[in-house]
Amino acid sequence: MGFEMAARLARGGADLTVWNRTRAKAETLTKYGARIADDLPALAACDIVFCMVSTWDDVRQVIAGPAGLLSVGAAAPRMVVECSSISLEGSAELRALLSARGIELLAAPVSGNAKVIKAGRLSFVCSGPRAAFEAALPYLRMIAPSASYVGEGELARMVKICHNVFLGVVTQSLAEITVLAQKAGVPRHAFLDFMNQSVMGSAFTRYKTPAFVNLDFKVTFTPYLLRKDLDLGLDAGRRYGVPMPLASITRDVVQTLIGRGMTDEDFAKLLVLQADASGLKLESENVEVSDGL
Ligand SMILES: NC(=O)c1ccc[n+]([C@@H]2O[C@H](COP(=O)([O-])OP(=O)(O)OC[C@H]3O[C@@H](n4cnc5c(N)ncnc54)[C@H](OP(=O)(O)O)[C@@H]3O)[C@@H](O)[C@H]2O)c1
Repeated sequence: MGFEMAARLARGGADLTVWNRTRAKAETLTKYGARIADDLPALAACDIVFCMVSTWDDVRQVIAGPAGLLSVGAAAPRMVVECSSISLEGSAELRALLSARGIELLAAPVSGNAKVIKAGRLSFVCSGPRAAFEAALPYLRMIAPSASYVGEGELARMVKICHNVFLGVVTQSLAEITVLAQKAGVPRHAFLDFMNQSVMGSAFTRYKTPAFVNLDFKVTFTPYLLRKDLDLGLDAGRRYGVPMPLASITRDVVQTLIGRGMTDEDFAKLLVLQADASGLKLESENVEVSDGL
């Protein structure tokens, strides 16, 4: 995700310095004009720092860890735009520790995978000071056509958690009905062709279609990250007194995927799990299908 976001910033004309833990993965960004930083504190001289890692623990490590962004001297950026999918509590803790150094935080999680970013279809949902949102907007627009401002504080995290609960539930449901249709005799490509054009079809059902039809499970989002987001959703449901029966079942289905060792594969493997549970051995249909991007 971070790579494609950085590529769009650099191509959009931003004066960009990039750091990635595995430096080699960032190196090709230099062809778009980005500089590669040797360490995180080198980014403290930047005006705005975008952060895209995995979990809140990783965010804390890269921002406030012993070798993190703020670990050397008094230099500090004006603003951090934090885009990882993290909890409300983590985001609030981040806001407090940045604020103590006079740095603003824009919480800016995203909807869309790396291919969606490349296709220029990513969406940001943002919260924090309105002025910080306005200041970051020209850069957000280089990465994505849409950036919704939903309010102060950590509200964007709540929206992103809701979004990803929906992602998990919809994917599991799509896996169930695709396997059901196939067992009854309908090829997956024919079934999804109809679904994608029906009122129930969406950008998401379209871009998951190649995975479902041709079993192309090149990772876009891991079951591990999806489980994290479903857990965040269930935690929020408990806190706000909202029953979430579908999210709860989906969380355990994703856990089963992980328990079977599919930790680092694409979460679309929910289809394979569903087929296994239905006594169906899936094979690629080898049909050219569009991902709609
Ligand atoms: N993939 C999606 O479809 C998608 C969509 C929306 C939101 N998200 C969210 O976006 C975030 C990133 O997802 P992703 O799919 O890009 O994950 P990913 O492919 O696993 O990449 C994670 C990135 O974070 C870095 N990282 C992780 N832990 C780190 C640490 N402790 N210190 C330094 N660097 C660390 C990794 O560095 P290395 O290269 O060295 O491993 C890598 O650059 C997650 O919060 C995810 O939930 C993902």
